[in-house]
Amino acid sequence: MKCCIVTLGCQMNQSDSERIRSVIEGMGYAMTKNEEEADLIGVVACSVRQKAIDKVYAKIHRWNRWKNDRPLITFVSGCILPADERKFLKLFDLVFRMNELPELPSMLQQCGIATEYSLRHPLEGMERQDERTDFWLVDPAYSSAFEAYVPIQNGCDKFCTYCAVPYTRGREVSRASADILAEVQRLVDRGVKSITLLGQNVNSYGLDKKGKEISFAELLCRVGEIGNASDKDFWVYFTSPHPRDMTRDVIEAVAGYDCLAKQIHLPIQSGDEEVLRRMNRNHSMEAYLKIVSDIRELLPTATLFTDIIVGFSGETEAQFAHTAALMEKVEFNMAYIAKYSPRAGARSAKWEDDVSPQEKSERLARLSEILKRTSLAHNQAMVGKAFRVLLDGKDRRMEGALTGRTEGKLPIRVLDASEELIGTFQEVEVTSAAELSLTGRLVK
Ligand code: 5AD
Ligand code: SF4
Repeated sequence: MKCCIVTLGCQMNQSDSERIRSVIEGMGYAMTKNEEEADLIGVVACSVRQKAIDKVYAKIHRWNRWKNDRPLITFVSGCILPADERKFLKLFDLVFRMNELPELPSMLQQCGIATEYSLRHPLEGMERQDERTDFWLVDPAYSSAFEAYVPIQNGCDKFCTYCAVPYTRGREVSRASADILAEVQRLVDRGVKSITLLGQNVNSYGLDKKGKEISFAELLCRVGEIGNASDKDFWVYFTSPHPRDMTRDVIEAVAGYDCLAKQIHLPIQSGDEEVLRRMNRNHSMEAYLKIVSDIRELLPTATLFTDIIVGFSGETEAQFAHTAALMEKVEFNMAYIAKYSPRAGARSAKWEDDVSPQEKSERLARLSEILKRTSLAHNQAMVGKAFRVLLDGKDRRMEGALTGRTEGKLPIRVLDASEELIGTFQEVEVTSAAELSLTGRLVK
């Protein structure tokens, strides 16, 4: 019998999906990518974009039609808004939250799966600590042999006014640092080359367990120590931190250890004080720029990525111009720029979505232009120099070439490189630069 899991959205969903897969495989299912041949089919949903929500509805309506012709069990998990959850309960056989994952076999049994499956509890024999975090004790079925996500925290307490996450994933809860470090150690021992610590707000790690848990900076240092004690090479990333909790000791920790990759993804969302205030971001532009200057000082080689929303409710042309000016000033290597769209449940959904779609598109295009220009200048300065690259796949658009990423996560096409090198670090000389990408060849 086969199971297909469709994963939408961010890396956190991808990571959750790896644990769901592990439980389902443990029951005896084989995985398939083909929805049509699955007996059990599920989706890990995302509520950040309306498109992703629409996709879940399109899928379940289709799957429910298939039920006329064959037995099929459907489930949904992931980021679900309360209003959608009520509808999903009628459409899917099973709706569960990640903290309920250990009960998945028995929940599926109640949905009527065949009796030959193992219904053994996935955490049988393990010491359970906290029902909000026990699901992390499930050993994930990692989807790559050389890149892995390690969740360190779930949920969010920040309540940015545009964002659905506090309503879909609930309040912030930190995973036990001993478990995080044990998982990192296992991955390092297995030879994994790129590890990403995940959370909605990684740098508020531990704040929900004050006095009982270490801080995010301390967690980074302990991961750094794993690197120092190991003869293996690997890069550790984290995403995403919130500017409000981005203390200097976090940046110092990254500077202090070779295995902590010199790349920072620091969402700014807007470059205007008033818009930041209405977004409830709880930090000033000055504070953000101070962090950027600390990064430039302590991590001179680091790349800087960000997230930006254009056309937030009430954003005037003058306020938008401040975001454009910020982008010129900071010279991000990468920016994920989104057009604002109201999320049911989030506070700003009650405010007028008064920037027209054309205006949003135009603002997005203007920021993309700035990004391309500043990232190109940065990439051009790399031409002629050699960098360490993690080769991660075949280049789909060029025969004989591989794709990879620098430590700063800049995408690079590596010419004349053979497939056996996928999943290894190689020295690569950059031969040419484009907007948002590089080309290079192996240093022999
Ligand atoms: N509209 C547009 N973009 C959004 N994001 C989150 N909520 C919204 C929304 N309602 C973006 C933010 C966040 C990223 C994950 O998604 O930039 O950092
Ligand atoms: Fe959403 Fe803001 Fe929390 Fe990020 S910090 S998950 S944008 S509420």
